[in-house]
Amino acid sequence: MAGATESIHGMWSSRIMFILAATGSAVGLGNIWKFPYITGENGGGAFVLVYLGCVVLIGIPIMMAEVLLGREGRQSPINTMLALAERSGRSRHWQLLGWVGALAGFLILSYYGVIAGWAMAYVFKTGSGALVGADAGVAEGLFSAFTGNVWEVLFWQVVFMCLTIFIVARGVGQGLEMAVKYLMPALFVLLLVLVGYATTTGHFGEGLAFLFDFNFGKLTWEAVLVAMGHAFFTLSLGMATMMAYGSYMPRESSILGTVAIIAVLDTVVALLAGMAIFPVVFANGLEGSAGPGLMFITLPLAFGKMGAAGQFFGTVFFVLVSFAAITSAISLVEPAAAWAVEKFKITRVRAAVTIGAIAWLLGLGTVFSSNIWVDVFFLGERNFFDSVDFLTAQFMLPLGGMLISLFAGWFLDRQIPRDQMSETHPLLFNAWVFAARFIAPVAVFIVFVMALF
Ligand code: TRP
Repeated sequence: MAGATESIHGMWSSRIMFILAATGSAVGLGNIWKFPYITGENGGGAFVLVYLGCVVLIGIPIMMAEVLLGREGRQSPINTMLALAERSGRSRHWQLLGWVGALAGFLILSYYGVIAGWAMAYVFKTGSGALVGADAGVAEGLFSAFTGNVWEVLFWQVVFMCLTIFIVARGVGQGLEMAVKYLMPALFVLLLVLVGYATTTGHFGEGLAFLFDFNFGKLTWEAVLVAMGHAFFTLSLGMATMMAYGSYMPRESSILGTVAIIAVLDTVVALLAGMAIFPVVFANGLEGSAGPGLMFITLPLAFGKMGAAGQFFGTVFFVLVSFAAITSAISLVEPAAAWAVEKFKITRVRAAVTIGAIAWLLGLGTVFSSNIWVDVFFLGERNFFDSVDFLTAQFMLPLGGMLISLFAGWFLDRQIPRDQMSETHPLLFNAWVFAARFIAPVAVFIVFVMALF
């Protein structure tokens, strides 16, 4: 039996829509909030170079594997894995990959909703002018008063989760595609406006130097693991999001060409976010290494010092972050929602609401992490939020990605990738096979082992 040509859940109306949706998934808090602060924490340039290397050598081949499997299976990741394993004469246990992916999706979505809620709250905090002229004490005070208030954090988490559920419930065409069609172009425009603004601070060169000065002295294996984990996170890999999105991709589009565009766009947005943030931070004599608070304390403080212009651009900035977060959050719900529809024959609305509700409940752990559970540790010295982040980004996603790549490279019926990528030049096709079989899995394995010891 050859793969179906359409998914029962709907299809992207064109290749461009698939690119927008997948880029919308990839571009999110990972690019704008996480990338700048982990780059700051890990010393800049060298870290960026390792991350870029991971995107090319590990990220692109694995994203191709996910899209290929999804487009062949045309079902939710769990059922796609089951069907393709059976067709290839392999163990049914490969569907476990889909299950682990769904679990990782719940975990990521749980904290994603909270941080995205913070960003939405900051649209109003910056917009109200509360931070104009603020000094470090005021900016920090505002942030800790906000995150310390369970009810306020909870309120914004609920708002964000409801928006996410609403979009997913409306379906692939009317919901997901509609959202990315407007939000993604808006996001690019806003980002360019902000980078333009950063060039006027007089510290643009310093920001660039921080991002691109390759100093390997500071690089540890720990940092390499963070860089690799981030490559998975930012490209939405390792939990079958791209498999789900690939299952709605039209048959004619080239997988390699499309995936390359998505990876480039995602990387460009991360670098532009760094270029928008660091010059503003340095122009105000602040440090780039502030950690997760970089976007919520240091940056608002920097904008606050810039008067009315800062108030305006600061607000624009948090609108941008909220848009980016929404188009990613929907992609965290989609794989599980598609599965629930297939399995229980329920409507999309019920599936989306149920899944959103479970993720919301799990997210309470992160809501509490900045107030009543600040000192409650789970994995090692990590609070709930840090534990979930660590477990998913640095463990579950790389492991899931490695298994997906091994499955596509070694266990899948050989004819499937050949058919799915028939338009790809044989040389490039073979390069992909080699990367999926050896480079990506071995690289993940090495980084795991080195970081462990
Ligand atoms: N890539 C998104 C970001 O950078 C987050 C995300 C969305 C994600 N879907 C995912 C991460 C699936 C891992 C897996 O913010």
